Amino acid sequence: MEKFIIKGGKRLKGEVTISGFKNAAVAILPATILAEEKTIIENLPQISDTRVLKEILTSLGAEVVNLGENEVQIDGEKIKECVADSELAKGLRASYYFLGAGLGRFKKAKVAYPGGCSIGSRPIDQHIKGFEALGAKVKIEHGMISVQARDLKGADIYMDVVSVGATINIMLAAVKAKGTTMIENAAKEPHVVDVASYLNCLGAKVKGAGTDTIKIEGVKKLGGCRHAIIPDQIEAGTYMVAAAATRGDVLVKNVIPKHMESITAKLKEMNVDIEENGDEIRVKTSRRAKGVDIKTLVYPGFPTDLQQPMSSLLAISEGTSSITENIFEGRFKHINELKRMGADIKVEGRVAFIQGVKKLSPAVVSASDLRAGAALVVAALATKGETEVQQIEHIKRGYDRIEEKLKGLGASIDTITE
Ligand code: UD1
Repeated sequence: MEKFIIKGGKRLKGEVTISGFKNAAVAILPATILAEEKTIIENLPQISDTRVLKEILTSLGAEVVNLGENEVQIDGEKIKECVADSELAKGLRASYYFLGAGLGRFKKAKVAYPGGCSIGSRPIDQHIKGFEALGAKVKIEHGMISVQARDLKGADIYMDVVSVGATINIMLAAVKAKGTTMIENAAKEPHVVDVASYLNCLGAKVKGAGTDTIKIEGVKKLGGCRHAIIPDQIEAGTYMVAAAATRGDVLVKNVIPKHMESITAKLKEMNVDIEENGDEIRVKTSRRAKGVDIKTLVYPGFPTDLQQPMSSLLAISEGTSSITENIFEGRFKHINELKRMGADIKVEGRVAFIQGVKKLSPAVVSASDLRAGAALVVAALATKGETEVQQIEHIKRGYDRIEEKLKGLGASIDTITE
């Protein structure tokens, strides 16, 4: 078991370079099995989720060669079938992307029922609806999901809820279906667009990703390509929030400012100074931030993944704030931990009411999920004294070399292994 010991209360200062987007990487790695030639993925974040997915690819028979710290070559030509039933597949939500990709490549796949962050009920009915519309039969038994189609045929699919995962999974299957697929009410998140770019780079015909209608013309075969993953919107947002919470001066490098608009706008509303220059954003502030109201929404709204780190900043901002969590009902588990540090927060259903306090006090806290962990790290960095953050394996699932990056900004953070 690993934990972070953070001696907080120091202003974060310096530069941090953002890694490839976790949420794109965890879809693109499974998508590589659609390619019948070698694929090279650049800008792959070094996180445990990508390590696990590479192991699953190897277990399926793919040849996985690390070409550098952030570059991998995957040759899936020899894969014969897509059956991912290991303990590894069970622990990771993104393993469900092997269903769409396996369906596309082999017209069938079998994958352990997905795990992942515990942030509320996470149904997969929209994925199933999409696969069935394309002609697949879906069975869930003995902890496994199997999909199988005699023929995959393009279809018009209207999503009942806007789902990133279902939009991507349906795209993965539809690129090899006969005819045209239209996904209506599709998710527009930046990583949906990145996955579509990767698929097009392989020779797929996907149009409209980034809007709410995606049109896919099925093709017979997909070849290889080289693709660089886009920068991580959520990692960038976390460092921006940490800079504001410590009243620091941080240059966040390798970002796409367009993806950051909802976060930048909120921080400006909180009186945090922000400068944008090309692919860099500087967050500099010496005063206490002002409380605001936040509602999480699908892109381009405020991302649910950042409400947790943001709540740590709001906990020490001036006045009252509220967070309305519209995407996942169970995403307030970090609040109890923040309360241990003296935060004044009341949760009623999907809304957290926050009365800002001047400062928090150090405590022993525990990360219940990935972004809850990020919230606790932000709180600890802003708090004088020694905070212990337990269960950091959740954080390491999604933040590339977080300890090294924060040390580079002057933070005192160490991993202790018990
Ligand atoms: C992805 C992100 C996650 C982010 C979330 C919302 C990845 C790997 N993870 O998760 O970090 O927090 O988007 O931006 O990209 N839903 C259904 N039925 C379904 C699928 C989803 O009702 O079949 C609901 C969910 O319960 C949730 C909402 O739709 O309320 C959005 O979920 P979805 O966009 O699918 O999230 P994920 O893809 O799991």
